[in-house]
Amino acid sequence: MSDEWGPLGALAGEWEGSGGLDTAYAHATHEVRGTPYLEKCTLKPFGPVDNGNQHLYGLDYRSAMWRNDEENPFHTEVGYWLWDGATGEIMRGFVVPRGITVLAGGTAEAGATGFTLKAAKDGGLYTIGENKYLAENASSLSYEVVITTSGDSWSYDETTMLRMKEFPEPMAHTDHNTLHRVG
Ligand code: HEM
Repeated sequence: MSDEWGPLGALAGEWEGSGGLDTAYAHATHEVRGTPYLEKCTLKPFGPVDNGNQHLYGLDYRSAMWRNDEENPFHTEVGYWLWDGATGEIMRGFVVPRGITVLAGGTAEAGATGFTLKAAKDGGLYTIGENKYLAENASSLSYEVVITTSGDSWSYDETTMLRMKEFPEPMAHTDHNTLHRVG
């Protein structure tokens, strides 16, 4: 990958990881439980996108996660990763089809092999949007993801803080996985 994608260059490609682990409150069993998952993810380079004097390079991404041998994924995301080489700003804008949009952001050096992106519901630049039902019953207060890249694999560790009507305090909904290059 050319330097124009900065630290995002290491994420371009097709990836799979079978060691995912999700922690969430399960309505079916009324408990917080860990769910192992298989993930398949494609990140395709594009750019530049010009906003006046700003020139962004990005990755168009789509990921899906399955538990056990179920036919349909239990979680999917579509979105864009973006890099502004002039300022070192990295963003990940994506949609979770529960009716949630996230624009998470942070900064990194061009050659960084690790970086952190954050968003918060009422948090200035990088925010979370959600539907009315979720705002009342299971609101996403904040989102943070730590990315680590290393050649033919990369990892993420993310925490979404949820204010759920079942709990008096916000609870951590977490996901992590290591993805290996398959194309
Ligand atoms: C790898 C990523 C993720 C996976 C595998 C995942 C999976 C899950 C699972 C299994 C549940 C529990 C559903 C149930 O049994 O009731 C859940 C709930 C939820 N997730 Fe995620 N999730 C991921 C990322 C996210 C992100 C990034 C957000 C928001 C920024 C999010 C927001 C929510 C919300 C709001 C709920 C509660 C829904 C409800 O209780 O009605 N999730 N997720």
